[in-house]
Amino acid sequence: MESEKTLSFFQSRQTPFSSPFFLFFFTILIPLLSFFLFSLRHKIWCNCNTCRSCITSSWSKDFDNLCDWYTHLLQKSRTQTIHIHVLGNTITANPSNVEHILKTRFDNYPKGEPFSMILGDLLGHGIFNVDGNLWRFQRKMASLELGSVFVRSSAFDNVATEIKTRLIPLLYSVAGKNEGVLDLQDVFRRFSFDNICKFSFGLDPGCLELTLPISHFAHSFDLATKLSAERAMAASQWIWKIKRVLNIGSERKLREAIHQINILAKEVIKQRRKLAFSTNQNLLSRFVAITDNESYLRDIVISFILAGRDTVASALTSFFWLLANHSEVELKIRDELDQRIQENQDFATLEQIRHLHYLHAAISESMRLYPPIQFDSKFAQEDDTLPDGTFVKKGTRVTYHPYAMGRMEAIWGPDFMEFKPERWLKSGTFCPQCPYKYPVFQAGIRVCLGKELALVEMKSVAVAVLQRFEIKVDRVGYAAIRFEPGLTATMKGGLPVVVKERSTHAGP
Ligand code: HEM
Repeated sequence: MESEKTLSFFQSRQTPFSSPFFLFFFTILIPLLSFFLFSLRHKIWCNCNTCRSCITSSWSKDFDNLCDWYTHLLQKSRTQTIHIHVLGNTITANPSNVEHILKTRFDNYPKGEPFSMILGDLLGHGIFNVDGNLWRFQRKMASLELGSVFVRSSAFDNVATEIKTRLIPLLYSVAGKNEGVLDLQDVFRRFSFDNICKFSFGLDPGCLELTLPISHFAHSFDLATKLSAERAMAASQWIWKIKRVLNIGSERKLREAIHQINILAKEVIKQRRKLAFSTNQNLLSRFVAITDNESYLRDIVISFILAGRDTVASALTSFFWLLANHSEVELKIRDELDQRIQENQDFATLEQIRHLHYLHAAISESMRLYPPIQFDSKFAQEDDTLPDGTFVKKGTRVTYHPYAMGRMEAIWGPDFMEFKPERWLKSGTFCPQCPYKYPVFQAGIRVCLGKELALVEMKSVAVAVLQRFEIKVDRVGYAAIRFEPGLTATMKGGLPVVVKERSTHAGP
């Protein structure tokens, strides 16, 4: 009965009609019509060098990742803005444009229909995928939760417990063993998954238990985000839409993954309702108290997992990769820890974590070069002109590109490719950059709500790990990162490391 209900809920999101007429209508007419509209709106063929390279993927001969190719084009552009005609996509790395899109003309640049369709099956009406009043309401509720001092301090307690009882014992268990190669990316994904679930729903999935259990939920979640991101990369929307109606290939896999996610999300909500009168309040219980719309609650659950899991894991993975290649930075972090945290102290306090300026600078610098969300797109509602003079036609996709922005000489100076935490410090004190130059957490009206929480989480992990262990990347000649296609930056092949116990620390 339960699974029947879940199935009907699932089906109502996917294929509302199944008679032969509707099948014909959806498989033939709608795609043809959308292709026709698409070709009216965009140039479907363009012979300029950039579009040819885009269509034939010939850029991949010279660049490891698509984001590196875009960076190259943006670095060469006089205005730091480019337009990929065949994709109808204006991409910018110009801070004045970013401020214009994210603040000054915020109302003209919503997420827009095309993206909410691409991510709609996975995210539904969750905060990441909606505009207008639906967004405003969720943002208000989430701000209340994330802005509270009490909530922040109990979030820190959760993180500290996860580190003490799971992360550290796991690293000790592999340290010094010959076969002790560990995929740090996988470890951080498990770690941040446990944390975001505890924080948002008050439930512990235990993904980072010593046995590293296989989580079907986490697996389905990975698959669904990857396949949803692939929809956005298709040359035209009608390609995935046809596959979706026919239920074939990647769309079939996506449907199955979302089905698994829905079953588990439903379980989370059921348990939350049972515990409704407990003192353990969290984000989901705020929403459960005001709505009994299962589908809406499910969407909120999914958006928060997406917000807090992959982003933090991605940031931690590239941070440890950079440290392994920059021992001078690691030494300076250790010096700061030695000065600020007593030798016999089991775990740093929240106050101490907040005052680690050099570590804060190193993490910010790491996300400058490797932002967890590499680009973010909006859709222009009306014709507009960006501050750099670029004309934007109504309906155009407009993308700001934090990955490229972290590599612009005009923003960071001639040493922009160096990993240099010092650029964030003035007389040893951390100084934040203008958020429109560094939109790693987005900026303006829809700025990330979990920024402080994420920074405390990352700093806590860095302190606990660096005090106890030496981490060496287990990959000879591993000079550049290759990314998997996805919504957040994920290293292809993970981050295999060898862990060694440091002799100077007092112990677990
Ligand atoms: C290093 C970690 C993180 C990074 C780099 C990051 C970055 C971002 C970015 C770029 C956005 C805008 C996305 C978009 O609109 O498409 C965003 C939105 C958001 N983030 Fe984060 N995030 C991080 C961690 C977190 C955590 C841990 C939480 C929750 C506990 C969180 C909660 C949110 C929420 C709720 C939004 C939606 C805001 C809105 O649409 O009004 N984030 N984040």
